[in-house]
Amino acid sequence: MITLLKNPFQIVSVDTKGKNSKRGSELSEIGLILDHSIIVEDDLIKDLVPNSAINKYSFDKEIDLNNKTVLPGFVECHTHSVFSGSRANEFRLKLKGVSYEEIARAGGGINTTVKAVREAEFEELVKLLSLRIEYFIAQGITTLEIKSGYGLDFENEIKLLQVIRFCSELYPIKIIPTFLGAHTFPSEFKENHEGYIRLIRNEMLPYIAKNKLAEFCDCFCESSAFSSEETDKIFSTAKEFGIKLKLHTDQFNSIGGIDIALKHNAVSVDHLEVIPESYIEKLAGSETVCDLLPGVSFFLNHNFAPARKLIDAGALVALSTDYNPGSSNISGLNLIMSIAALKMKMTIEETISAVTINAAKSVCLEKEIGSIEPGKKADFAVLDTKEYSDLIYNVGMNLNCMTIKNGVVIYNRN
Ligand code: NIG
Ligand code: FE
Repeated sequence: MITLLKNPFQIVSVDTKGKNSKRGSELSEIGLILDHSIIVEDDLIKDLVPNSAINKYSFDKEIDLNNKTVLPGFVECHTHSVFSGSRANEFRLKLKGVSYEEIARAGGGINTTVKAVREAEFEELVKLLSLRIEYFIAQGITTLEIKSGYGLDFENEIKLLQVIRFCSELYPIKIIPTFLGAHTFPSEFKENHEGYIRLIRNEMLPYIAKNKLAEFCDCFCESSAFSSEETDKIFSTAKEFGIKLKLHTDQFNSIGGIDIALKHNAVSVDHLEVIPESYIEKLAGSETVCDLLPGVSFFLNHNFAPARKLIDAGALVALSTDYNPGSSNISGLNLIMSIAALKMKMTIEETISAVTINAAKSVCLEKEIGSIEPGKKADFAVLDTKEYSDLIYNVGMNLNCMTIKNGVVIYNRN
């Protein structure tokens, strides 16, 4: 089946010249193409051809892009989208000046959501997650990572991963499941850290690997959560099972998480709000993606990660919402891009590269998605504008009017 995507006003291809990731000044090169159409064969991009030459081809189907701007489908590579309950009460405390860590120490925070998730039925979690997935699709997101991490016992971590699997079969976008059993210590293991780590290593990870319930294993390496030694142990086991690694680290304290991530060749290190200067070069010299989450800094009134220094040093920088009920109750990726530009001094072009090709690299799909290049999946976001900067300039406004996944229109605002 050959499909013609005709009449785009412009194509923001995020061309990588076959490199499939962007560092340093490459993040600013977004491969703007005018007067071309896109030819799709089945689920793949076949070619970009000048409009003057399209009458040489024949097509089974045409999709009219009506003079709008087409980009690669966005990749949201860090979310905690499967949860139930509300932490609005804790949000009120936060507005009065109580910190995220103080709330967590008092037994709230992640453990508030854990309580709600343990009480929730599978069907309720499916319903909640479905609404959130539909909102992501409406924004032009065609690939979505979702973490567990609010079950924190065998039954409920598996329940969350099964909810993610169920929804990934329900929706046409690509959903990537991550196991985050090491999100924090559940209250019943508050005084028995070793016992909880044994449960993760000896029971949860083997079951998850056997049933292929997660592509990644993540940990929260932080003074109030898992130490670098504990992270090291969990990562060693995950690796033995062939599960790839991601790490929440250097959010509030820098306690050696980056060293452990680099030792195990983690695919990404996420957060980095308090990363010490000395680690910037180390990350820049690695293949590990620095996934920055400026929504968290905005939501918690906390430091922003040093995006400029990381990019200028040559690190692979991606951006995501970190959508979760406690530290970033923000599910709009466009808002995150605007915060990145306004507060972390990223350029408009850099933020676009960060939510496309580098976010794809952060979920190990950079060879398949993240840019409009022949051979890649025909995944597109179509913005209702002739000016791609509007994506960031129109703060908090969803300009996406059409989402195309594998060559098929899966969302059309009109
Ligand atoms: O990425 N840092 C730890 N985990 C989440 C927050 C989860 C929550 O507060 O529910 C984060 O910020
Ligand atoms: Fe997170």
